[in-house]
Amino acid sequence: MINHSRFTPGPDPTPPQRTEAPEARRDQEEAGAERRRPEASAGAPAHTRRAVLKAVAMTAAGAAGTAAAARTAAPAPASAAAAQAYAVAPGASAEVALKVNGQLHRIVLEPRVTLLDTLRERLGLTGTKKGCDRGECGACTVLADGERVKSCLTLAVMRQGAEITTVEGLARGEELHPVQEAFIRHDAFQCGACTPGQIMSAVACIDEGHAGSEAEIREWMSGNLCRCAAYQNIVAAVADAAKEVRR
Ligand code: FES
Ligand code: FES
Repeated sequence: MINHSRFTPGPDPTPPQRTEAPEARRDQEEAGAERRRPEASAGAPAHTRRAVLKAVAMTAAGAAGTAAAARTAAPAPASAAAAQAYAVAPGASAEVALKVNGQLHRIVLEPRVTLLDTLRERLGLTGTKKGCDRGECGACTVLADGERVKSCLTLAVMRQGAEITTVEGLARGEELHPVQEAFIRHDAFQCGACTPGQIMSAVACIDEGHAGSEAEIREWMSGNLCRCAAYQNIVAAVADAAKEVRR
């Protein structure tokens, strides 16, 4: 006789599906693995993923807390004064006084306006060029209180009360600055896009005493790029002008 009980459908032999979230399952597996580690029972530190993540989170929280505490501590007097000087309500404008090429200008502008845009768009001094507009090419170089700065990286409000010199302010009437003369003499430009920045940078480079040799000129003028690659002539012009200025 055939025993049909053998064919009676029994419980589904497929193992039950695990329903835990992958994250919880991973933690359980790690905990199991941890229990199996011989050193776990000996009190050694447990380097599970969870333990490491917890440690990282606690360290980050601690660092954030320290930084927050530092921020809430009384600010240094200098930075407090600086913050006060630039404090402008959102959306408001600020009045900035700039002495540009010897002439005082009071300009009302948004605090986010760069010195470059102020010179070009508000004062009409387009001799200063906008190349990259992000501090890489040096085409926008001007002098601020005698120091060369990239005006595309400088907010006008940061130069409150400063004396700004642009390429338009170098000549004395019909008489060109020795650096301008030297650039013409040495044919130190092709398209001319970089030239105002090169000239302003060269004026400061000579003034700083960094034009003693060709290598030194190349080093200290390296923030001014020339896509026409007129470097040979630019260096010769700066070296020549340096002799003229020192006389
Ligand atoms: S435009 Fe300012 S560095 Fe290029
Ligand atoms: S002369 Fe053309 S970029 Fe310098």
